[in-house]
Amino acid sequence: MDTKTLYISVNSSEFEQSEEFLRCTKDLRAGKLVIFPTETVYGLGAVINHEESLQEIFRAKGRPSDNPLIVHIGEMEQIWQIIERDPPELFWKLSERFWPGPVTFILKKAKGISETITGNRDSVAIRFPSNRIAQRLIALCGVPVAAPSANISGYPSPTRPEHLEEMKGRVQWIIETEPLEFGIESTIISLLEETPALLRPGPVTTEKLKEMIPDLIVKKGMTEAIAPGMKYKHYSPNAEVKLIPWVRDKQELAEMGIRMFKDLCQDGNSEQKKALICTDETISYYKNANIDCISLGPREDLYRVASNLFHVLRVLDKNGIHCALIEGFEEKGLGITIMNRVKKATSK
Ligand code: TXA
Ligand code: MG
Repeated sequence: MDTKTLYISVNSSEFEQSEEFLRCTKDLRAGKLVIFPTETVYGLGAVINHEESLQEIFRAKGRPSDNPLIVHIGEMEQIWQIIERDPPELFWKLSERFWPGPVTFILKKAKGISETITGNRDSVAIRFPSNRIAQRLIALCGVPVAAPSANISGYPSPTRPEHLEEMKGRVQWIIETEPLEFGIESTIISLLEETPALLRPGPVTTEKLKEMIPDLIVKKGMTEAIAPGMKYKHYSPNAEVKLIPWVRDKQELAEMGIRMFKDLCQDGNSEQKKALICTDETISYYKNANIDCISLGPREDLYRVASNLFHVLRVLDKNGIHCALIEGFEEKGLGITIMNRVKKATSK
């Protein structure tokens, strides 16, 4: 398949009139696969009423068929194509507060929603992205769009156009844009039971959610798999990555990193390339120890760290690194989300 690429700036006000964007929207509606930006990660989309196209998503990604998809809407009215008329009261409150934005809700599905989307569940995951390109694409298309992250299954989610190279030839269109606002996948909340439960931590932190849902069920540390898809290998570059356990004192953290790096070098083949993923606070310690290191950004801005994480994991492979260390983060606020992904990336 000859993939067509289209670049749209999030600041552009005229993209909706562009002939290419309209052609892309039409192709999506006709059952072609389109990769589009959201504020979290790039999604690989197909309209929910085109069964073959939905199945093609799983082939294009190499995704296990029992891992259900999130359905994206471009305007609020589109939820009636996905859920029954009586969602719980809390859904209205939460959607008013967090939508459009990086939160996904699990609700009872409407009849007729494809089992390919839900993995034979009677529930469905729904998200209303805030990214304008995603919104207009889906609204103009007229049909909600099922979309997992646009990576080959198991690999880190794509957050920059260069990460989409591996999908060329597998989809009809790729819409590229500037680096994404959050760069880490949405928070998932199940509203199926009386008490809501957090299934995947994301950009909207547990602390923020608890302001509105004081009894929100959060499993210990939230680093274990709960959303069905989390049981699979995830966020893993080809390089083997090991965790430097977090400690508050930056010098102590760096000293542990340096010790672990020395062991890493002794364990492995000396020809193999190694690297260390650190933060702005510790980078000078590693540089002084002549360690090849990449910073995720400053610890005081965890949103920046989160948005760099998948890119930096991919850089390891791009640079031919065999084995790497990554500094841990305190499991608090956005640190919970970051550690959820880091722990998956470092588990075999
Ligand atoms: O930010 C995001 O959520 C991105 C962008 C593209 O929107 N999408 C994304 O999709 O991360 P994906 O497929 O990589 O992750 C979806 C997660 C999976 O862990 C899946 O198991 C879970 O959502 N999920 C989907 N439907 C579900 C359902 N009915 N019940 C429970 N979990 C569900
Ligand atoms: Mg994914």
